[in-house]
Amino acid sequence: MSPISDQLEDSPAARSAGAILSIDLDALAENYGILAGQAASGVGCAAVVKANAYGLGVDRVAPVLFAAGCRRFFVAQLAEGIQLRGLLPEAEVHVLGGVLPGLESDFLAHRLTPTLNSLGEIETWAGHARRQGQPLAADLHVDTGMRRFGLPPDELDRLAGEPERLAGIDVSLLISHLACAEQRDHPLNARQLGAFSQARDRLPRCPASFANSSGIFLGPDYHFDLLRPGVALYGANPTPDRENPMRDVVRLQGRIWQVRDAQPGETVGYGATYEVTGPTRIATMALGYGDGYPRALSSRGEVTVGGQAAPVIGRISMDSTTIDVSGLPEGQVRPGTLVDVIGPNNPIDTVAAAAGTVAYELLTHLGPRYHRTYTGG
Ligand SMILES: Cc1ncc(COP(=O)(O)O)c(C=O)c1O
Repeated sequence: MSPISDQLEDSPAARSAGAILSIDLDALAENYGILAGQAASGVGCAAVVKANAYGLGVDRVAPVLFAAGCRRFFVAQLAEGIQLRGLLPEAEVHVLGGVLPGLESDFLAHRLTPTLNSLGEIETWAGHARRQGQPLAADLHVDTGMRRFGLPPDELDRLAGEPERLAGIDVSLLISHLACAEQRDHPLNARQLGAFSQARDRLPRCPASFANSSGIFLGPDYHFDLLRPGVALYGANPTPDRENPMRDVVRLQGRIWQVRDAQPGETVGYGATYEVTGPTRIATMALGYGDGYPRALSSRGEVTVGGQAAPVIGRISMDSTTIDVSGLPEGQVRPGTLVDVIGPNNPIDTVAAAAGTVAYELLTHLGPRYHRTYTGG
């Protein structure tokens, strides 16, 4: 893990912003290389860029991944697929959500590969292939334990017994998704692997894809033909029990608006939930839950100023967060000072855990009000 550059854009827009979100596109490309490099040769590596590339901006992220060698991309929804097709005319674009009747021609018009998640969706797509008079590509998702998307076991049984249901469908990939991959020793991992391998043996042969970010680190048995990472590309730790092998991609800095002194007995913020017990210097930062900084971090979060920790005190408001800077040298925190909220000193997984959530949620909630600056790429 190496720190994000300290070089910050110094434009009027950046100077006036309440918070600055810096996204390191070189680190993103490097992370793609790290993940792709986990697999044996011959195993490909796709990128999951749904939800606006996990909040980081698919228009900036996807071209960088393509330039880094990625040719296969996954999104969740048809509209995301259409947007991505506009960004990457030459990439394979796979849509994890199924194909609803009436939307088949949109997939074709934009050269998108749908994921068929049920016998009903197989029938819809096969019917469209018949009407088109040509085989149509699709991925097939079998449910091996998530109980969310994919053919449930009884539908898999029926499909295995009646493979003619797939007539006219050119199955590009057989996929499934791990429920507990980040918990290396969770027994469901091996059970899902067994179920996936069995499903593969029972269906017409085609390439297979199983491993998300954490699944990649469960070892080569989980790799099959195509890795399918998302969150690790964006810097989250896919191996929570070990050091993060990924580079930081995101740095979020909040700007101090006001600094004030409070006396013992005074309280801070809405609900007066935090009482000052000694002379305290409080700095108010211009970002809050309206920007996606979780309210759950009220009196729990920690930020850093010049590498020194400062705790969040009181409730986080919509537009602001109060921090205790009493321990910092006089004059180090002034109106205009930038405070590190997420970044090398404040790993996204640590911030997420303190808020009782996961990096996925923090990333996808990064607010539209931040001044966004992209470096590298
Ligand atoms: C079907 C599927 N594959 C792959 C991924 C990528 O997972 P991760 O972000 O954990 O790497 C996701 C993300 O939710 C997914 O739903």
